[in-house]
Amino acid sequence: MDKRNIVLVGFMGTGKTTIGRLLSAQTGMPLVDMDAMIEARAGKSINAIFAEDGEPHFRKLERDMVRELSARSGQVISTGGGIVLNPDNIADYAKTGLVVCLLASSKTILERVQHDDTRPLLAGDKQDKIVQLLETRRPLYEAIDLKINTDGLAPEDIAARIIDLYHSNNS
Ligand code: S3P
Repeated sequence: MDKRNIVLVGFMGTGKTTIGRLLSAQTGMPLVDMDAMIEARAGKSINAIFAEDGEPHFRKLERDMVRELSARSGQVISTGGGIVLNPDNIADYAKTGLVVCLLASSKTILERVQHDDTRPLLAGDKQDKIVQLLETRRPLYEAIDLKINTDGLAPEDIAARIIDLYHSNNS
């Protein structure tokens, strides 16, 4: 039987890529980082895609990639934080994989993204942007069945919990 995907969802800076690497190493399944793949295909950075083509175009590239990846199995998928904006994305991923949402406080998120300028939606006053965006998106992340509050947890512990979930959720 094909191995189900593990799909990591969550706000920017909740550790999706870090945890994805650990899960990939532990399961032997390849890590697919959606943002990195979108950048490679577009031949430009996420910042450049937003600036030159606009956010709606980025969301379309994201949507197309969800369709493509959710049709395959045996992957650890690290998504972009805005994947939850279109409920079809989550519904598609849930058909072939275990979808896990990583949560973190705005304080933890700010610490993680403070010195990183690769996220167009956080340009300007990062703290302000994080608080506002988290507020509007909170219901979308909360709506995902499996959630892990990562505050104060080591990446290895988070990965171990996800592996447990992966083995105990067979549907
Ligand atoms: C976004 C999150 C980013 C990236 C883009 C938009 C968002 O991914 O897809 O900047 O809307 O939350 P990360 O969550 O990996 O930072």
